[in-house]
Order: sequence, then structure tokens, then C-alpha cells
Amino acid sequence: MYDISSNSINIDEAFKNKFKYYKSNKLKPSLSEVLCIDQSISDKVTPITPKSIQQDPRTYILGLHELQHWKACTFQDHPGLILIRNPFTAAGQRYWIRQCLEVYPRKPNKMNIDLEVNVQDWWQECFISSQCDRNLQKKLRWTTLGYHHNWDTKVYTEDNKSPFPADLAELSDVLAGYLGYEGFQAQAAIVNYYHMDSTLSAHTDHSEINLEAPLFSVSFGQSAIFLIGGKDKSIEPSAILLQSGDIVVMSKEARLCYHAVPKILPTETTPWNDQDKSIGNPCCDIKLKYLSNTEDLVTKMNRNSNNSEWSEFSDYIKQSRINMNVRQVLNDKQSSLS
Ligand code: OGA
Ligand code: MN
Repeated sequence: MYDISSNSINIDEAFKNKFKYYKSNKLKPSLSEVLCIDQSISDKVTPITPKSIQQDPRTYILGLHELQHWKACTFQDHPGLILIRNPFTAAGQRYWIRQCLEVYPRKPNKMNIDLEVNVQDWWQECFISSQCDRNLQKKLRWTTLGYHHNWDTKVYTEDNKSPFPADLAELSDVLAGYLGYEGFQAQAAIVNYYHMDSTLSAHTDHSEINLEAPLFSVSFGQSAIFLIGGKDKSIEPSAILLQSGDIVVMSKEARLCYHAVPKILPTETTPWNDQDKSIGNPCCDIKLKYLSNTEDLVTKMNRNSNNSEWSEFSDYIKQSRINMNVRQVLNDKQSSLS
């Protein structure tokens, strides 16, 4: 290594260099190399349609457009990486944003703030209760669901898990089915909360026993620059623009690649305010795998079309990004870690 000055480029650290470049506020980075799949006329991005798309009636109640209208693509330099460009309706965007703020950051799920304070229910204590703590609002950075990610040991254990939310399991099952991963089981998730100055440094997600199963990463709110490279940090990463509703799938070779979020960018659009803010009752019986009925979901989805119910969530998401990162932990035939 010949890193003689702090400004010199170290070729062993191609990932670090790009991360610093996009993170910088002083030297405003150029976004011209950032892949945006809406405008991609480049040979780096290839639109795909899965071989046989079977209609899945669950899309409707989960706030998703019909599968045949989804736009997905792969990346020439990153085999196994798939981006599904916002398949959510406005009702869906609002539903999932609200779940991430009001429902998931609640015991028995774990939150980063647990280490500092005893918070039973973050949304209740920060936004509703009379002794609301404005300081706590910005402090929430992550919530873990299902098998809790252990940030120190990076090891999942049977005595450190809570029930995985049925709605998120149902959503993950639809996403997996679309890509032909019929047996996928959502068993662990991290919900990340980003403010406009937050970053996520380069890492790989390798704690899961099952590394054949894909990882689904769903983003809402403000946009992000997502860097994805290779199996070590010497490989120069690509920068991809992630917008509200976008789903990154890390499968096959991409499952163990380094990735990071060096920058949050203000969005140009607010798809959670689009026309389709509510849904009607589903026409017929919908077969569910994890949820017990459709009525509760439809009711919860539709109350957000009332702007006074939605306003606090709206204020939060105007200045934040949320990412739900869903993994299968166990091998297909395995029922526990022990
Ligand atoms: C993660 C992760 C990426 C993102 O939670 O492991 O890589 O887009 N998140 O926030
Ligand atoms: Mn990750």
C-alpha cells in the first residue's frame, strides 16, 4: 500500500473510494454515473420478465400492482442482482411506511434505542403520548424482526427471536413467487431508518445459514445511492439510484457482495401521494399463507387515505428513508437453529 497522503487513491480500496466520493458534501459528487433504471438506455441494465407470471390475487390487498405490470431488471456487471422498480400503489406505500413507523418498532421487536432507554412502543412514545420525547424520534436507526440480527457477534440464535410479522411474510412470499423462489421463508428482517445525513457503510450479509435464498430489500421515502461491488472491497462498485417502493433482490452471486448506502437524496416524486390511495374490497376469497384475513388489511390500508390520519407519517417520510431488509435464515428443511 502506498497511501502516503490522505487524498491519494488506494487501489485496494476501490469500494471505500467510491463511498467517500458519493458521501462527500464538500465536493458535490456528479450523479451522471448513477444507474437510474427509469432512464437507462445503457447496456448495463437489462429489463427482465420472469418466465411464467401467474396472477397472485394477494397483490391487491398488499398494496401492490398486478404482477404483469411490474418492471424488473438485471445488471450486466452484477449477476444475481435484480431491481424491481416500485411495484406498490400509493395505498401500499402508505401502509408499509406506517407499519415500519407505528407497528414494527415495538416490543418484542428489538431497536437500537433499547441500549439507552426502555421504550415499549417508539411511535406511541415519540409522536402520540403527552410526554413525547422529540429527542427519541431521530434516534431510531433500526428495528429487528424474527431472528434478531446480533450486531456484535453476527450470529443468530434460537433464544433471540420474536414472531415474524405475518404481513411482511406474506409480502415476501409474493416477491419470492414472482422470481420463482416458491419455498422462500421470511425469518429475519432489519428495518433501517435513515435521515438525510445518514449512511450505511460497506458490508456483506453472511450471518444466515441459507445463502442460497435471496435477500429482499424494500425502500420507501427519500431516495438513496446504493453501492454494490464484489466479494471483496478491491472491486469497484456500481452506484444505483433507489427510489421509494424499489425492491433490490440480492440472489446467487450477488447475495454475498459488498454493498453500502453512502448518500440519501431528496426525492423528486412522492409516490405515496399518487391517486390510488385506497382499495376496494377484494372480489373473492383470497388464499393467504400467513395473514389470517383480508378485512383487517383492507381496513388498515384504507385509513391512510384520510390525510389527517396520514399527516404525522407524511411529515416523517418527507425527511427520511426506510429500508426493510428481509432474509431467510434456515435451510429449507431445517426447522430451528438447534
Ligand atoms: C442492510 C442493507 C441497504 C439499504 O440492512 O443490510 O444493506 O438499502 N440495507 O438500506
Ligand atoms: Mn446489507
